[in-house]
Amino acid sequence: MAGRFIVFEGGDCSGKDTQIDWLRDNLPADKFTFTKEPGGTAIGQRIRDLLLADSSNNMFSETELLLFSASRAQLVREIIRPELAKEKHLIVNRFFLSTLAYQIYGREKLEQLPLLEKITSLALDGTFPDLYIFIDVPPEVALRRLSDRPDEKNRLDKEDLTFHQRVHQGYLEGLKNLPHIKIDGTKSVEEVREDIINGLIKFFPDDGFEHFFKIAEVN
Ligand code: TMP
Repeated sequence: MAGRFIVFEGGDCSGKDTQIDWLRDNLPADKFTFTKEPGGTAIGQRIRDLLLADSSNNMFSETELLLFSASRAQLVREIIRPELAKEKHLIVNRFFLSTLAYQIYGREKLEQLPLLEKITSLALDGTFPDLYIFIDVPPEVALRRLSDRPDEKNRLDKEDLTFHQRVHQGYLEGLKNLPHIKIDGTKSVEEVREDIINGLIKFFPDDGFEHFFKIAEVN
């Protein structure tokens, strides 16, 4: 059976990394591959370092958009397609929807949307996620969480509340056209996990997810 291509999305401090870590620790490694954006490949990691470094403060939004898309083009060809071809399920931390939310809505460049779609069509070349799992946390709550862990802030985290509000709006707009599950990220870590598990089982009723999670429970 073909593997499923699943993307986790959410603003900064949405808690998605914690949830993905749990899935990585509890789902069978021979059936699931985990990767992230930007990064996930050696080339992508170099692009990530460049994008998130404080020294990149004078980076233009067009440069950002192209670099995130470049990292995506590499990830699709180097990891996503080969893993799907091995019939593995893919869990990817961020994808196209992040660029729509951050570079188009966050950076207030709505006029560049048709261009982003063309660039994305080049980057993806027909490889689209089966499902986006969006962990929804109001930007005000996310920024409060972020201020509790100042050491972890990257260049984009340091944007102000209005930027993160536009990113949030971008997510909600983008989701309208994509297969997705929206999860309330203000709940406890355990409740969010439960919602993700139930969402996956319901969305992919014939892919054995229920079985994988039963094994995880036993362990
Ligand atoms: P991370 O902290 O989830 O790894 O993401 C790194 C940062 O990059 C985060 O602030 C969101 C941002 N980002 C974009 O602005 N555009 C994109 O396309 C992606 C994938 C991430």
